[in-house]
Amino acid sequence: MTIMDGKMDAKISLRNVHKSFRIQRNLSHLKADLQPVSALQNINLEVKQGEFMVIVGPSGCGKSTLLDLLAGLTTPNSGQILMDGKPIKGPNLERGIVFQQYALFPWKTALANVEFGLETKGVPRKERREIARKYIYLVGLAGFENRYPHELSGGMKQRIAIARSLAYDPEVLLMDEPFAALDAQTRETLQTELLRIWEATKKTIIFITHGIEEAVYLGQRVAVMTSRPGRIKQIIDVPFQSRTTEEDLRSNPEFVRIRHQIWDLLKDEVSRAQEQEKNKSLVAGSGIKK
Ligand SMILES: Nc1ncnc2c1ncn2[C@@H]1O[C@H](COP(=O)(O)OP(=O)(O)OP(=O)(O)O)[C@@H](O)[C@H]1O
Ligand SMILES: [Mg+2]
Repeated sequence: MTIMDGKMDAKISLRNVHKSFRIQRNLSHLKADLQPVSALQNINLEVKQGEFMVIVGPSGCGKSTLLDLLAGLTTPNSGQILMDGKPIKGPNLERGIVFQQYALFPWKTALANVEFGLETKGVPRKERREIARKYIYLVGLAGFENRYPHELSGGMKQRIAIARSLAYDPEVLLMDEPFAALDAQTRETLQTELLRIWEATKKTIIFITHGIEEAVYLGQRVAVMTSRPGRIKQIIDVPFQSRTTEEDLRSNPEFVRIRHQIWDLLKDEVSRAQEQEKNKSLVAGSGIKK
């Protein structure tokens, strides 16, 4: 499929996107030297309305950089990022973000955290409260509305962060390794819950992970990235219809086959990324931020 073919129903399009960072080398015997690091190279991707798209790639390959671009938190050096055919110009509540760390306000209760986006949108207090309660219920935390973040477990905090992103009804949900810090059991529960929410809300979801099993379980399509500079290596279709109802999807032979296929695509990239990490740590104080 060419880019033009996919244009009609694309919710999000990335066209020839490049992103590099200028980094400062703080070597004491040298003058400050600005050296660009290419983080993303020639990214082309079309995400359809209502699609669950997963992006998988080795550590440091540019996944968060890609998500920040989609969020409108940064701009590409060249190329275009479009939503409904229009360039993304900055952050907007039409795109909700869930970060890897629980980005909750510690001084606000769970309910007030979920209400936050609605407050920004100017929704009246009573209505705000009702909507926030609905989403707290949806993520399975009814009864925890008045707890503060420090009184919640990691998994609960992440549910609240998801509820907050859903509450202001974004058209697209951008998720950057939202379950990475959780234990395996909580992660699996939240994966299934996220699929239920997706089926119920029909939102377009772009989900980033470095977990292959998570990618195959969640994604309708999985885009595999190369090591830095990140490029899209291949896009794999995952054909399962009803992920939440199948008893033991993870041991389905087709599931196992796709998992192997993605692992094959990734393994060289992972070793290349590890090489890069090693070289990077040799340059002390290189100023590279992660
Ligand atoms: N603000 C920045 N300034 C300079 N370099 C940056 C900046 N942000 C990211 N980078 C570099 O760009 C590359 C991609 O980083 P990014 O955080 O997008 O990777 P990632 O795929 O999300 O990694 P991880 O899986 O570890 O979260 C890295 O080499 C990183 O050092
Ligand atoms: Mg990242």
